[in-house]
Amino acid sequence: MMPMQRFRLPNRQIVAIREAQTRDAAAILSTLNQIGGETDFLTFGGGELNYPVEAQEHIIEAFAIRDNSVMMVAEIEGKVVAIATFDGAPRARLAHTGELGISILQAYWGLGIGRRMMDMLIDWAKSSGIIRKINLRVHEKNERAIKLYEKLGFRQEGVISREYQMGGQFFSNIWMGLAIDPPDSTD
Ligand SMILES: CC(C)(COP(=O)(O)OP(=O)(O)OC[C@H]1O[C@@H](n2cnc3c(N)ncnc32)[C@H](O)[C@@H]1OP(=O)(O)O)[C@@H](O)C(=O)NCCC(=O)NCCS
Repeated sequence: MMPMQRFRLPNRQIVAIREAQTRDAAAILSTLNQIGGETDFLTFGGGELNYPVEAQEHIIEAFAIRDNSVMMVAEIEGKVVAIATFDGAPRARLAHTGELGISILQAYWGLGIGRRMMDMLIDWAKSSGIIRKINLRVHEKNERAIKLYEKLGFRQEGVISREYQMGGQFFSNIWMGLAIDPPDSTD
């Protein structure tokens, strides 16, 4: 379980960051579909996630029941403005790893929400007793995201060329990773 946390943003609004519930399904879907149209740095464009709300409910449940996975939302005045996920690998030999994703509505970029969500997700991973490595993929031109991840200690581990194709151009994806070790571990 991840306890809810509330923060005051520089614009004085209060953001609540908490685990996603199935009742958030429609809001999550529409927020993701909006963000897809606001950035070139996600794997989907605006309105491209055209599956039904029930499918999103199943996705939320699937995250909730796995010990090594979590889906989080950030809410401002009852509106879902951001989603972050850690998708833990299902097989035993990989179950200590997983992939992180984070998406925030453009109107809320640069306010510290990404930093807060990442901090909470890393704390959750540290206290999970399972997670020992967080992986993520980031578009090579996504400077804001790369800066945020590097500030948190993520290191670039590899480059996959031609992962994105947009407007007749290819872009690479950078794999980044953060080791999660207990304080007394030397592994
Ligand atoms: C990338 C994203 C998650 C960052 O979250 P955010 O809430 O905007 O970022 P924060 O306000 O927490 O800023 C965190 C750090 O990012 C960097 N940053 C913020 N704004 C920046 C800007 N305009 N240019 C470059 N770096 C910037 C800074 O290093 C900042 O740390 P600082 O405030 O201590 O200087 C968010 O902008 C987003 O969802 N973008 C669209 C989707 C996306 O790209 N997702 C990531 C896919 S891998």
